[in-house]
Order: sequence, then structure tokens, then C-alpha cells
Amino acid sequence: MSDLETWFEKNRTQCEADLFELLRIKSVSADSQFRPEIRRAANWVLGQFTRLGFAAELIETAGHPLVFAQSPAVPGAPTALVYGHYDVQPPDPLGEWISPPFEPTVRDGNVYARGATDDKGQMLTHVKATQAWVETQGGPPINLKFLIEGEEEVGSEHLTGYVAEHREKLACDCVVISDSSQFAPGQPAITYGLRGIMYFELRLTGPRQDLHSGTFGGGVTNPANALSRILAALVDDRGRIRVPGFYDDVVPLTEQERAGFAKLDFDEAAFCRGLDVSETTGEVGFTNLERRWARPTCDINGLWSGYQGEGAKTVLPARAGAKFSFRLVPNQDPKKIAVALRKYLDSLCPLGIKMELIDMHGAGGVLVPLDSPYIAAATRAIERGFGNAPVYIREGGSIPIVTTFREQLKCDTLLLGWGLNDDNTHSPNEKFCLADFHRGIRASAYLWDELARI
Ligand code: BES
Ligand code: ZN
Repeated sequence: MSDLETWFEKNRTQCEADLFELLRIKSVSADSQFRPEIRRAANWVLGQFTRLGFAAELIETAGHPLVFAQSPAVPGAPTALVYGHYDVQPPDPLGEWISPPFEPTVRDGNVYARGATDDKGQMLTHVKATQAWVETQGGPPINLKFLIEGEEEVGSEHLTGYVAEHREKLACDCVVISDSSQFAPGQPAITYGLRGIMYFELRLTGPRQDLHSGTFGGGVTNPANALSRILAALVDDRGRIRVPGFYDDVVPLTEQERAGFAKLDFDEAAFCRGLDVSETTGEVGFTNLERRWARPTCDINGLWSGYQGEGAKTVLPARAGAKFSFRLVPNQDPKKIAVALRKYLDSLCPLGIKMELIDMHGAGGVLVPLDSPYIAAATRAIERGFGNAPVYIREGGSIPIVTTFREQLKCDTLLLGWGLNDDNTHSPNEKFCLADFHRGIRASAYLWDELARI
């Protein structure tokens, strides 16, 4: 193992240089203008594997390409499937970045760039750990498959079908994903639960064109007023979602799990200071960690209508719209809820308004059993890589493909997050701590070792 340690030391700068190269590629999956950059990122990832001498291929889908690679077979050893994503969220609002989003810049030991932690930096730790094994031991001690996609940030639509159709090819004993967070700086974690998601766009249309609000106001339904009423009816003032039947399949938190969350050293005052908010809020009767990790929620992600320029304009807008999403907990079925939502919105839509609801994507939540030899191996690997034992947490974000892995490949996922909660994912000035990048590489390399001993 000492030659692995020597490799980590010698290759720190090169690992960082490779990460920065990937971060310069503007692989925004949501916006079609970045399609050539998406392809560049996929090819860049592919190049990492061909350089290791692995069988690797770029797989075309109806959406963005997948990268698949496989290490040389180690008969009798377990197989891990490493999943990650090379796509990133849109970088806007651009004006709020201290350094440009696609020019990786190091400040205070962190690299700032869109995708630094989510997920280019975290994904690359597994590639570099594997490179360390190839260059010091001739290859990893277990069978590794890598599946790196370009649509995670838009719902993994095309990967879902691919996994279902390629179960043999992707067959494995466990899936490994680093696309989540540590509990706190210096306190690594294994995440055993993620929330699911449903994402919608609502479009309301009123009169043919914008109207004078004095001449017409009060005489025809204003789509902006209608939108406000409809959106306000999604959640009540106790933080409960008002869609009928929404909570039918929610499994309540057990007292044991609540006690587990309560034992974690969560500093609510520091949390508020970090976000510059005076209070935490949410569903009545639950703590902040419970609300964010294990209760369903509804958030408006964007909304538009009417005049937004300088000064006042007395207008009755012709159209209004919003993007909004629900976070789901395990056991809630996105399809069932979409039907209930449609019915509820129909009942709320006022006369004189045409309503269109677009169902953009959905995925269920996940819970991973903690009593497995894979979790035990990951626990030891993290201890070796980070010098500190992990705590076991749930998180509020979603990785849509995880439920599909469970259903199609019949195996559990190790969610080993190297990020931090203040990494500004999906927001301006995203960062990744470079020390955690290197600790992640070490933990991953030791995970291959620990899995070989199972
Ligand atoms: N890395 C996140 C998922 C995540 C966030 C896990 C926080 C744990 C904690 C992932 O890249 C992501 O952002 N997923 C999207 C999925 C959606 C667009 C379908 C999300 O959660 O919004
Ligand atoms: Zn993300």
C-alpha cells in the first residue's frame, strides 16, 4: 500500500491539473446551446479510461452520450459499478461569480468552478484512484465498471432505459457514487437515504395579448393573479403539501431514526449564519434535518409574468408561468402523485385561463440498508482516506438513477460524498475543497482494496 501513498503524493498536481481541464468544459445539460461542450466532456472522460488501457466506449442515446469503461477482469473478485455525471447545472446568475464559472480558480485551498464538486471533482476521485492502482499494481484488485452520464442534472431520462436494457453488461455487486456531501468539514459521512423528485412547468394563458390593466382589469382573469393563487395553494401555512393524497404513501420517520438525527452535531445557528437567514422554517413538528432529509417538500424554482423592467407599467399580462418541484421521500410514487397533482391543479384553475402542465422528470427516493459488508468496507476505506470514521446520514438531494439501479441490477448503492454543504452546488461560486479531492482519491483507492477483501 505504501506505493499507493507514494503515487498520491507524486501525482497531486497532475490530478488537480486534470480536474481543472475537465472544469473548463462547459457541459451544461439543460441548455441545448452547450451540446458540443457536452460531447467534449464525454470524450474527455472517455480519454481518461482509454489511457488506463481499459475497454471504453462512448454510447450514443437519444439525449447526451454515456461513457462506459471496464477494468481488466479479476476472476473471483467482486464487481463495483462506479456511477457519476459529467454534466453540470446552468451557471447563472453569472454576475454573482467572483471568478468565471468555467475558469477554475483556486482560492483558500478550494477550486471554484461550476461542476467542481457536483460532480466532476467527486467523480474524478474514482478515476484517479483507479489510475493509482493501474500505475502502481498493474490494475485494481476488483472488477470495476464505470458508467458516467451527461443527463443527471436533467433527470437521467435516457440512462434509465439504457440500464434496463443492459442489465448483463452492468451487472455488479454494488454501485459506488460520490455525488453527495460530508456531514461537516472533517466529518465524512455515508449517505443512506436520498429524496426523490418531481419537476413541473406550469403555463397559464389568459387574453390574446397584454392589456391595459385599467381598461380591462377586473373584467378578465389576470394570469399572474391566477398563478399566484394556484402556487399559494400548493403548501399550507404549517408547511404541508395540499395535493389530496400526497402523504398517502409516506412512511413516518421512526423514533430510532429521529434519535439518530438528533445525535448528530448540527449547529442550527451556524447554519443560519452561513445562509444569512434569521430562522430555519418548514413543516411544523419536525427538526431542520428531518425536514431537509426525510420529509417531502415543494419549491418554486422559477416564475415569470408581466413587466419586470425599470419603473411602473400598468399591464394585465397575457401569460404567466412557473417551474416548481416536489422532493419526495422513499415509497412515494412520482407517477401516482403526478396524477393527483393534475387533478388538484384542474380544480384550482380559474375561469378564463388555459392551463398547461408539463411533467419534466421524476424519480423516487432511496434508502440503503446499513447492515451490509459493502457499507462496512466503505466505512473502513473512508477511515483510511480521511483519517476519521464516517457518520451515517440522509440527504435531501436526488440522484434519479439510484432507484433504477436497485430495481434493475438488484444491488445497493454506496453513497460516499466528498463535498460540503457550503459548496454552493447549483448556485454561484461552486467550489470543491482540494484537500477533500485528494482524501476522496485515497478513500476510493482503499475502497477497492477493502472490497477485494470481502
Ligand atoms: N449531487 C446532486 C444530488 C445531491 C445533492 C445529493 C445534495 C445529496 C445532496 C445531483 O447532482 C443533483 O443535483 N441532482 C438533482 C437531480 C434532479 C435534477 C433530477 C437534484 O437533486 O436537484
Ligand atoms: Zn447537481
